[in-house]
Amino acid sequence: MGKMKVFVADSIAKEGVEEFGRFKDIELVVKTGLAPNDLAAALGDSVGLVVRSATKATREIIQAGTTLKVIGRAGAGVDNIDVPAATEKGILVLNTPGGNAEGAGELAIAMMFALARQIPQANASMKAGTWDKKTYAGGVELFGKTLGLIGIGFVGSVVAARAVGLGMKVVAYDPYVSKDKAKSLGITMGSLDDVFKAADFISIHAPKNDETKGLINANAFQKMKKGVYLVNCARGGIVVEKDLIAALDGGQVKAAGVDVYDKEPCEDWSLAKHPKVVATPHIGASTNESQVNVSIMIAKQMGAYLTKGEVVNAVNKVK
Ligand SMILES: NC(=O)c1ccc[n+]([C@@H]2O[C@H](COP(=O)([O-])OP(=O)(O)OC[C@H]3O[C@@H](n4cnc5c(N)ncnc54)[C@H](O)[C@@H]3O)[C@@H](O)[C@H]2O)c1
Repeated sequence: MGKMKVFVADSIAKEGVEEFGRFKDIELVVKTGLAPNDLAAALGDSVGLVVRSATKATREIIQAGTTLKVIGRAGAGVDNIDVPAATEKGILVLNTPGGNAEGAGELAIAMMFALARQIPQANASMKAGTWDKKTYAGGVELFGKTLGLIGIGFVGSVVAARAVGLGMKVVAYDPYVSKDKAKSLGITMGSLDDVFKAADFISIHAPKNDETKGLINANAFQKMKKGVYLVNCARGGIVVEKDLIAALDGGQVKAAGVDVYDKEPCEDWSLAKHPKVVATPHIGASTNESQVNVSIMIAKQMGAYLTKGEVVNAVNKVK
């Protein structure tokens, strides 16, 4: 019998490739950056497909992979995978919860500092040869401020712990975790409105789903403190981009740190280019450490499933 082919559609860390190499029955095919049609044609008799976030495992791709048994997402969010389409075909979908939490969490903390002191704007001004102390005065300190977290899973918990260390008060909204979790993090929990009302900084760490799509909209901004700082390093679409722009223009939101967008790469650049926005191109999980973690995790999990039928970190259930 030939080896089982696992198709790697987005580049993964070499440590993950090495981990796959420990499974003698598995052969990796690494072809990244393919257009959807080319990917569909290239899958051939692959039994596994590995994606990060660039590749969209759509219904069409999944149907083209007639021999697929497992799709592995080297990361947390699976919104780039049509999970129902995979389930219908009996294809298991795995992700790597927590593997990139430190990377994503630290970016959210970095965003808060960047917003509080306008570091990117001040740096750009210095690079332009301008000594403009006046514009960049009026910074605020994180110490003593209230941070509102929406979602305290793996990433939200990292942010909570770091923020507590910085002397922030943290209040979190997460309908699916117990108060004990908040207690162990040294933070309090409240309703979404409690978070809106209390927070000087708000950072979003919920998944994108039907419940959270458009959650942060004009109505939500009205409930927040005037001059709130907003960070979204979770997923585009949770924040309504045009409503955020209006809230920035009107001063309801003082500044925003944004890593994720409605369309990636951006098609409408008005949010990313907004002067009150510190924008990054979806790099939350793009630390060396996080990429090594998630690539090793996905290789171990996919290898265990393909060779022994062991299921770890599945996001669906198949027969
Ligand atoms: N920017 C990046 O590169 C990057 C990197 C890692 C994760 N992420 C994103 O960050 C988010 C969090 O990732 P994670 O690994 O912590 O996931 P996770 O599943 O561990 O945590 C998500 C948390 O959100 C909570 N939640 C679910 N619905 C909610 C709702 N309606 N309101 C409030 N909370 C809700 C869940 O109960 C859970 O505790 C996801 O959207 C993920 O895709 C982005």
